[in-house]
Amino acid sequence: MPLSDLAVHLAPESLAEQMAEDVRAGLGSRPRTLPPKYFYDARGSELFDEITRLPEYYPTRAEREILDARVGEIASVTAAETLIELGSGTSEKTRLLLRALRDHGTLNRFVPFDVDPAVLQEASRAVAGEFPGLAVAPVVGDFERHLGELPAGPRRLLAFLGSTIGNFEPAQRTAFLAAVRGTLSAGDHFLLGTDLVKSPARLVAAYADSRGVTAAFNRNVLAVLDRELDADFDPDAFEHVAVWDAEHEWIEMRLRSRTRQRVHVRAISLVVDLEEGEEIRTEISAKFRPESITRELARAGLRVTDLWTDAAGDFALSLSTPV
Ligand code: AVJ
Repeated sequence: MPLSDLAVHLAPESLAEQMAEDVRAGLGSRPRTLPPKYFYDARGSELFDEITRLPEYYPTRAEREILDARVGEIASVTAAETLIELGSGTSEKTRLLLRALRDHGTLNRFVPFDVDPAVLQEASRAVAGEFPGLAVAPVVGDFERHLGELPAGPRRLLAFLGSTIGNFEPAQRTAFLAAVRGTLSAGDHFLLGTDLVKSPARLVAAYADSRGVTAAFNRNVLAVLDRELDADFDPDAFEHVAVWDAEHEWIEMRLRSRTRQRVHVRAISLVVDLEEGEEIRTEISAKFRPESITRELARAGLRVTDLWTDAAGDFALSLSTPV
């Protein structure tokens, strides 16, 4: 059935410019930071996939457990005609939702939304093949900037899974939720996956696994900068660090310089002098509480109709609708 061409709201040049700008701002400030969105080149996506299967990394399995138990309810509460998935990737969780909505008899369109045209193309073809009769209308965009471009239509279900929202800083998160609210109308729903606060030992283990897969994932961002911005980072000259920030209730991933060193990011004529032990923050991964999720959604103008957790209480999935 109809697989539409990619609707592109993000030109490749603008992606490259954005990266140059982000890297200049992040590495030029103290503490030094890099935004997590640049982890996900082909190698990074492969490593993330491996992370989701690690014994220590529970969020993916916990969210799948909830979806397995609740997709039927989600389908009947939302009666969605359109499923829009933000940052969709290729996941099997999408298929769980698609199957349930199709079996409920309401679904007719799937809109995967992602920054990466290649990932999107691939995922769209696969879904179109598996779900005959479903219109697949992929959109290339940045979910922090292009939510206004989503196709209209009655009874849309907007899904943002995997606790990706945890990567936003508080102000970014507020802005994002406001934009989500702004794009939704009466009868639409928002399905949000959020990792929950738990013992620091388990949280840290999930981001510092014993096999070093997360460390490789973290260092890979430096290989991305080497390739995309003609930088000369030696990823092995950095140690992977994961710490629990109890005040903000988030995990921070950092890369700690093993030595005093100078790095060049040639494409943006940036020279970075790092002290021995100096750290670059590469990711925050905020953790939530059921009350804080409901409160933040309410402040954005979204009323939670359902909030489910897995049996262990590790992860939450909430369904909300505009007030
Ligand atoms: C995809 C952003 C949800 O924060 O847990 C996994 C990324 N980083 N291990 C997360 C990640 C390190 C992941 N998110």
